[in-house]
Amino acid sequence: YPCDRIRNFSIIAHIDHGKSTLADRLLEVTGTIQVRGAGANQQVLDKLKVERERGITGQSLLHFLEQAQADETSVKAQTATMFHTLKNKSYLLNLIDTPGHVDFAWEVSRSMAACQGALLLVDASQGVQAQSLSVFHVAKERGLHIIPVLNKIDLPAADPERVIAQMQSMFHIDPAQVISISAKSGHGIDNVLEAIIDRIPPPPASRDAPLKALLFDSTYDRYRGVISLVSVQDGILRKNDKIVSCYSNKKYDVIDVGIMHPEEEATGVLYAGQVGYIACNMKQSSEAHIGDTLHRVGEPVAALAGFSPMKAMVFAGVFPLDNKDFLKLEESIKRLTLTDRSVTIQRESSTALGQGCRLGFLGTLHLDVFRQRLEDEYEANIIVTAPTVPYRIVYKDKTIAVSNPTDFPDPSDYGVRGCHVEEPIVRATIIVPQKYLGEMMELCSEHRAEDIDHHHIDASDTSARVILTCHIPLAEIVSDFFEKLKSRSSGFASFDYEEAGYKQSDLSKMTFLLNHQPVDALAVIVHRSALDRTARTWVAKLKKVIPRQQFEVPIQAAVGRKVLARETLSAYRKDVTAGLYGGHYERKMKHLENQKEGKKKMKKIGKVDLPQEAFFDILGST
Ligand code: GTP
Repeated sequence: YPCDRIRNFSIIAHIDHGKSTLADRLLEVTGTIQVRGAGANQQVLDKLKVERERGITGQSLLHFLEQAQADETSVKAQTATMFHTLKNKSYLLNLIDTPGHVDFAWEVSRSMAACQGALLLVDASQGVQAQSLSVFHVAKERGLHIIPVLNKIDLPAADPERVIAQMQSMFHIDPAQVISISAKSGHGIDNVLEAIIDRIPPPPASRDAPLKALLFDSTYDRYRGVISLVSVQDGILRKNDKIVSCYSNKKYDVIDVGIMHPEEEATGVLYAGQVGYIACNMKQSSEAHIGDTLHRVGEPVAALAGFSPMKAMVFAGVFPLDNKDFLKLEESIKRLTLTDRSVTIQRESSTALGQGCRLGFLGTLHLDVFRQRLEDEYEANIIVTAPTVPYRIVYKDKTIAVSNPTDFPDPSDYGVRGCHVEEPIVRATIIVPQKYLGEMMELCSEHRAEDIDHHHIDASDTSARVILTCHIPLAEIVSDFFEKLKSRSSGFASFDYEEAGYKQSDLSKMTFLLNHQPVDALAVIVHRSALDRTARTWVAKLKKVIPRQQFEVPIQAAVGRKVLARETLSAYRKDVTAGLYGGHYERKMKHLENQKEGKKKMKKIGKVDLPQEAFFDILGST
């Protein structure tokens, strides 16, 4: 297949607009897979509880699932090669998978670097949503040719005219270019294939140039190690080639190479313009750097532009419920990170919680998925500290990144050392029916949003929707913002965000003290506007969860030396057996025994005994 017979494209869509269904249909029509019933993937997807709870389904989770079950008969990634004949010419079409969630924005942009075009899929009953918009912009920036596709036209609630008008106003698309389909029934799929061939340009690749391949995805196979997906930008990639990673300078032997059809099919060679898989003795997923450029040993090429390693944006400490299980927990974490290249790990020790790990994630969805997988893998409850974003402490002569509240300087340091704090900001987009606009503006303001702006998408009627944009601190959306957004819009709001740099902010470390001793694991970073509220709610919560002691315990929230809230836990009667009858010796012994047993699991915070479970309750309910 010379380049002019190759087309590389991806499907971009908001969650649930029918991306997987369309991909399945394309594979079926081109004979790549057998016709199978709609929803064949559903069973596997439903396994993930997180997804159901948060109402998110998607490629991003599919990624995790595939990696988790790489050696089982799970759904394959939707990166696949198809063969299709049009007007007596045969073509090679590569569908390249893009993750569907903002946490994975980096991977979205990388997989788009392997395409020349994209199908922009919009649900004819739902209309344009926040994620349609954000992925569209990424695709546009990358110069991809966009084919607008209107899906689900079979639905009674479909309103094609109106949605096409939305696409016209928001994406500046010519309505005549829109292809109307039903991915479910198969209606219009041939037109999609024709448009892919007619409208998307072939890859600008040269077979004669030295090998240059972009690594844009990877999966992990328990037996063969890392399988990478590559787009050959120039040259020819053959089995037994010796290649080098531009990022790490490590050398590898290409052990196997082929196309995804849709399973791996060895071809021994990939030519310029093609997309396929390689296996090359990479042991760990972390060696496969998404966005890396590969070339042949001794034939260096310029790395493809724009590569920067992935950045963790949300951090949390993970501790075992029982301290002696730390090694087992750490082993479980390591096993999971074999298949999830984007989690960062560091050991962390806390006086309150003992030994644990500090993990970095791409976003909160990523954290939730990992936490769920970890609990399954480790078969026990874990204590996860409140999520923190990476702050910057800017001194006169240097800037340091802090992602653990423990390392945050005290306010007294500020004055003395003349530093200030900066926090990461995102640009958020919310699309919501008009009647919820007030609620949404309020929600954003409560979360320190700035530059709030909105305008209408549809012209008329009551269900008209508005698009709201604002700048909001990342820290404000990492906890329960998404849930609040959904519940306060009766599920109608769609939400997306992109990084928007750092901004100076009035933040302090709040510590909690039991009997005047600070509990390190509970420290949080709080904005000045929320200090009093946070102090009061947390102190009240702590009072509820902490068991009474044999003496009175003051519970305090403080910033530096200033106490902002206080509750007092009254003392508990001294003798646990005092309430029992004198004669019941055995019963008395049993109680004393229990008390001793209890003691073992207790943590000492100064003179206060705290069961580890108390932390689970405190942190679990944030
Ligand atoms: P994620 O992978 O979760 O992002 O979703 P998706 O965009 O891949 O959507 P998916 O293909 O899973 O489709 C979502 C739902 O819409 C499924 O229940 C499909 O059966 C349904 N669906 C997809 N296409 C059509 C269509 O043309 N008509 C109708 N009526 N339903 C459709």
